[in-house]
Amino acid sequence: MSSIKHYLQFKDFTREEYDHVFRRAKWIKDKFKRYEPYHPLFDRTLVMIFEKASTRTRLSFEAGMHQLGGSAIYLNTRDSQLGRGEPVEDAGQVISRMSDLVMIRTYEQEIVERFAANSRVPVINGLTNEYHPCQILADIFTFIEHRGSIQGKTVAWVGDSNNMCNTWLQAAEVLDFNVHVSTPPGYEVEPERAGLYGTNNFEQFADPLEACKGADLVTTDVWTSMGFEAENEERMKAFADWCVDAEMMSVAHKDAVFMHCLPAHRGEEVTAEVMDGPQSVVWDEAENRLHAQKALMEYLMLGRIEN
Ligand code: CP
Ligand code: NVA
Repeated sequence: MSSIKHYLQFKDFTREEYDHVFRRAKWIKDKFKRYEPYHPLFDRTLVMIFEKASTRTRLSFEAGMHQLGGSAIYLNTRDSQLGRGEPVEDAGQVISRMSDLVMIRTYEQEIVERFAANSRVPVINGLTNEYHPCQILADIFTFIEHRGSIQGKTVAWVGDSNNMCNTWLQAAEVLDFNVHVSTPPGYEVEPERAGLYGTNNFEQFADPLEACKGADLVTTDVWTSMGFEAENEERMKAFADWCVDAEMMSVAHKDAVFMHCLPAHRGEEVTAEVMDGPQSVVWDEAENRLHAQKALMEYLMLGRIEN
C-alpha cells in the first residue's frame, strides 16, 4: 500500500507539486465562480472521520466533494466503533474498502499515520495535535492571490507553537520563505516535533513586536488548541502579551496581511481592531479552504490534470 499518495503533513508534497495544486485551485475556483459544473470525482466517495470538533473543515470537504461530483460521509468518534476501541489499523482496512478517499481529524499524528499505513486509498490529515496542512495550503493560496509568490517573504507567527505553527515551519522549508516565531517562555518550537529538515528558515523572538518587524504576513491562532483544554487557565496567563494588535501590525511591512485559521477569540490572541481591520484577509482565507482542498482531492485521486 506504500505507493498510494497521502497528505499527512505539509512536506509530503514538493514545491513543484504545490505549484501544480495552487494552479489547479485557481482554475477550479474561477470555474466555480462562473457557475460552471466540474465533476471529475463523479461517483467517488470521501469518508470524513472527526475525533475533534469542526466547522470549516467539515463544510469545505463535504461541499467540495459534492461540487466535484462525488459524495461525502461524516463519521465521528461518538457514533462509530472508533470511539469504542476498534483498532485504527482495522478501521483503515475497512473504511478504505468502501471509499475512495479518507480525511481524518484526530489527536496524535501517529493515528493518521497508522490509518494511512492500512489504507487502500489516499488519506488526508484534517488536523492533528502536530499539524494542520490543509489550512496552510489554503493560507498560502490566499497569500498568493493577494500578494503573489511567498518565496523569500517573511511570516510572523505570534502565539503557541502548535499544529498551525509547526505546519508554517514545514511550509517555509518546502516553499523557501522565512518564519519569525514568538511564543511565551516554555512554549517554544520543538523542531523535531515540527518535523523540520533543519534548513534554518525560522528564527525565534522573545518579543512578539520584534517578530512582526518587516513581516509580509502576520498570523496567530488560539492560545489553547483542542485537546489541551485542561491547560487553559495557565495558558491565559502565559499568553497575555501575545495578542496581535495594531502596534504589531504597524511595525510589519506596510502591505502586510493578517491571517487566522479561525475560530478566533477577539481580545485574546488578536484584537477586534486587527481581526476586523483592513489588513485582515481571514474571510478569503476561510473560503479558500474549499477551493484549495478541491484541488488537493483532484490531485490525490486523479493525479496531474491540466486544462
Ligand atoms: N480552521 C479550521 O480548521 O476550522 P474548523 O476547526 O472549524 O474546521
Ligand atoms: N490550533 C487549533 C486550530 C483549530 C483549527 C486547534 O488545534 O484547536
